Amino acid sequence: MRSQLFVPGDSEKKLAKGLDAGADCLFVDLEDSVANANKPAARAMTRQFLASARKAERRPLLYVRVNALDTGLTDADLDAIMPGAPDGILLPKAQGGADVQHLAAKLAVREAENDLPDGGTRICCVATETASAVFGLASYRSSSRRLAALTWGAEDLSADLGAETNRLADGAHAPVYILARNMTLLAAVSAGVQPIDTVYPNFRDEAGFRRECIEARRDGFTGKMAIHPAQVPIINEIFTPPAEEIERARKIVKAFADNPAAGVIGMDGEMLDKPHLERARKLLARISVAR
Ligand code: COA
Ligand code: MG
Repeated sequence: MRSQLFVPGDSEKKLAKGLDAGADCLFVDLEDSVANANKPAARAMTRQFLASARKAERRPLLYVRVNALDTGLTDADLDAIMPGAPDGILLPKAQGGADVQHLAAKLAVREAENDLPDGGTRICCVATETASAVFGLASYRSSSRRLAALTWGAEDLSADLGAETNRLADGAHAPVYILARNMTLLAAVSAGVQPIDTVYPNFRDEAGFRRECIEARRDGFTGKMAIHPAQVPIINEIFTPPAEEIERARKIVKAFADNPAAGVIGMDGEMLDKPHLERARKLLARISVAR
């Protein structure tokens, strides 16, 4: 999934608009964008939304961002929304693989209660929202087969650090957030799950947003979260590999398949060996998964 659009779970209007935004996935939010007094109403609205949105023939994946495990709100969130059969849960403030397993156990119970396939609900974690979470990044590997993706966040991390800002004057992230970003990328790849880049809050700055998408793709992220519908087509465009790139990947895979004894091949004046073949295979695997 290239684009994941956040939609506050207490806004009927935005939920409806989100469905038509062209995102590969919606992150329906019960956490930070919903005030405490609105949580019960947001849970009920989200459940109804899931139940009706699931029926559409072509729809985005539907994930729900629940409240963090240490808030005491997670169980009530899950009790309310699991009857709506979300495709996945986005876990904020995750501290590592043990939190994934904790959530997985909660999901297994609700799947049984709601007649849902065992293990079917996927998990994506926001993995860098506190300083200690950054040290837990290596523990996602082998945590659970439910784990589908890792993403990172600079807003809550800067609050935990007591930092003055997380962005520099030119809009780029300050070095400590780039460290968290890069560690998330490494952790996701090492866990064999999708690395997703963080949100870009300044939703009127298209040029800055586009630049950040291109940098993320360059480094190996395969998707980015959006907070506004206008960001979705840009993400989809940038994270869809161009036709020439796909064609070239096919050519590389074929060249090695046609020459099984060759470790190295020359193609169009370039040396290709195992890492090039791996990269080509990875790209083709990515596009074969529709979302
Ligand atoms: N999902 C769906 N629809 C959205 C949307 C979103 N995330 N953000 C904006 N829209 C809708 C607006 O309701 C508006 O609809 P309308 O034309 O029918 O009135 C339209 O898109 C244009 O919105 P705009 O006026 O440009 O922005 P806004 O001031 O209404 O909203 C935010 C700005 C930031 C409040 C809004 O984008 C938002 O709620 N984003 C998600 C926040 C969130 O979930 N944060 C948690 C993760 S960090
Ligand atoms: Mg937050």
